[in-house]
Amino acid sequence: MANNAGTLDIRHLNKQYTVEGEALPVLNDISLRIEPGEFVSIVGTSGCGKSTLLRLVVGLEDDYEGEILLDGKRIVGTSLDRGIVFQEHRLFPWLTVEDNIALGLLNASLTEGQKRMQVREHIELVGLQGFEKAWPHQLSGGMAQRVAIARALVNRPEILLLDEPFGALDAMTRAHLQQELLRIWQAEGITTILVTHDVEEAVFLGDKVVVMEPRPGRIRRVVPVPLSHPRQRSTQAFAEIKDSVLAEFGAETPALLAA
Ligand SMILES: Nc1ncnc2c1ncn2[C@@H]1O[C@H](COP(=O)(O)OP(=O)(O)OP(=O)(O)O)[C@@H](O)[C@H]1O
Ligand SMILES: [Mg+2]
Repeated sequence: MANNAGTLDIRHLNKQYTVEGEALPVLNDISLRIEPGEFVSIVGTSGCGKSTLLRLVVGLEDDYEGEILLDGKRIVGTSLDRGIVFQEHRLFPWLTVEDNIALGLLNASLTEGQKRMQVREHIELVGLQGFEKAWPHQLSGGMAQRVAIARALVNRPEILLLDEPFGALDAMTRAHLQQELLRIWQAEGITTILVTHDVEEAVFLGDKVVVMEPRPGRIRRVVPVPLSHPRQRSTQAFAEIKDSVLAEFGAETPALLAA
């Protein structure tokens, strides 16, 4: 259950890439504090730096200005404290479901028996009992994403980062996995950041929705979602919050408004 670990404090974060000798500013003065156990959704148009922000938090890149603090300590490199699920599940085709999940424990200081137990618990958590020995090609897209979520969680990280994890799934599977993610988040009490293109998904799951804008990527507004779970998409209160998030995009992104 929730403990006090998992406070993420991003302070005046700036990031730029160099493309053909020219500086390309990608993130501009991002400040965001996320409390232990909080669920934060991030939305914004393509190219506004959402994946870059997650890559920095997970520690895949360290060339930036400003501070990223986890429980008051500057993050350095990747760590078992931070689990990430990428848009494509990135499972290894030559490993079974259980071995793909066990990869998340590769560097953990546990005995083989403890590792087996953790893997079994997390297979149950994502509802994949009976598929332990299955190969990735035998899974549906939704099942593969569950394996990826189990792999990110198996080491009990303080933070779970999800980069459009359900983007490639059909609407039914997506709605189902949103419920599952909600259940897992409530059971584990883990600090969670979800990047999504889907404003309804962002409002359905998040304690707050961070709306970013592009060129360079900035935070435009943080919209709180003061609704208790389970949330009903059909209610007036839900629709009003969704509309206030959508209003931040204006007319510049018809594709997103249509989503
Ligand atoms: N390694 C890189 N080198 C140069 N530019 C990069 C690199 N990675 C990202 N960028 C640029 O940084 C900007 C932000 O990219 P990023 O992938 O973070 O956007 P995003 O918000 O995740 O977009 P999407 O919604 O399409 O996934 C883009 O302009 C992209 O071209
Ligand atoms: Mg992205």
